[in-house]
Amino acid sequence: MVVEKTLGQNAMNLVKSLNLLNERLKVAVLNGKVIVPLTREPVESDLEAFKLGLKRFQIAEHMFKIRKVSSRNLVEALKGKLPQDLIKIVPRSYDIIGDIAILDIPKELRTYAKTISEAFKILNPRVKAVLMKAGPVKDIFRVRQYVVLNGRPSTVTHHVEHGLIFRLNPLKVFFNPRLIHERQRVASMVGGSETIIDMFAGVGAFPIIIARSKDVRKIYGIDVNPEAISFMLQNIILNKLRGRIVAVLADATSELPLGGLADRVIMNLPERSLEFLGDACRFLKPGGGIIHIYIFINEKVSEGLLLQEIHSRVCEVGRKVVSVESFRRFKEVAPKEWHVVADVKVA
Ligand SMILES: C[S@@+](CC[C@H](N)C(=O)[O-])C[C@H]1O[C@@H](n2cnc3c(N)ncnc32)[C@H](O)[C@@H]1O
Repeated sequence: MVVEKTLGQNAMNLVKSLNLLNERLKVAVLNGKVIVPLTREPVESDLEAFKLGLKRFQIAEHMFKIRKVSSRNLVEALKGKLPQDLIKIVPRSYDIIGDIAILDIPKELRTYAKTISEAFKILNPRVKAVLMKAGPVKDIFRVRQYVVLNGRPSTVTHHVEHGLIFRLNPLKVFFNPRLIHERQRVASMVGGSETIIDMFAGVGAFPIIIARSKDVRKIYGIDVNPEAISFMLQNIILNKLRGRIVAVLADATSELPLGGLADRVIMNLPERSLEFLGDACRFLKPGGGIIHIYIFINEKVSEGLLLQEIHSRVCEVGRKVVSVESFRRFKEVAPKEWHVVADVKVA
């Protein structure tokens, strides 16, 4: 994949999140372009994600140089360092937030966590700290517990997504780099002069990506976590969006003077969004608007049943679902548990 140099980091993040990065080959830079090696020819859904995430890119053939790495992957790097029977459960995927890597290390491997993180850092020299997941995403701030295995003492990092910078500390705030396509998808739906309310905005990922790509009237990013709001304010300044995004430290379900203002509401609190759908409706203009509602559902729950629930919650507050613009199961978050999004037009 060939992109302008300015989109290089973006392209790398995107390709990696699609598991398409060929780590055996060296990324090339030629005539102001970055050429990212892929593991296979992209299929239609990959191309769709590239279009959403990068807009300008090309798929071309290139003779890449082989990357000189002593071990190709973590499994190979750990051979001889872990008991043979444990090698097969060494994690094969991970998340990168800025220069921090997040590993999900199975219980049986925890005594070797330090060894694993050291091998990981040698394989990924850009990673400056390795965190191990130590519990589920929990409590009102939706922050996960981590053990810092290795690296510099500060876990504040700068994550780049679509050329934008997100300063954050994963130990204090929620941030999911895997939502990169979702943020871009929602941004692509936004029209001119909209007022948007992100009820659960975290460090401002949705508001910043939207405000950078669309000429919105105003975006209100609400969050109840003071650390998230502090990072959101820094991110607004870092991305030169002062005056276009308002960071609101509040409970989005409390009485806020934002009723009847929004053309669009974003609700990414998947465990509880349904409960707060009535509050989202109250933010919408009297003429209506769009609500992007993110929900976790079990595979057994049918789309029909969920949409029925959405209809009745909207009706309860005296509004009406005009149409469901789209419904997507986009990520399996646990076995048979899906992260879904419904884009609902409400009058
Ligand atoms: C799953 S995170 C989503 C963050 C952000 N939308 C993103 O995609 O990165 C949910 C966020 O909602 C916040 N939150 C939870 N309950 C809230 C409430 N009642 N009012 C406002 N924010 C809330 C949490 O602090 C957390 O930052």
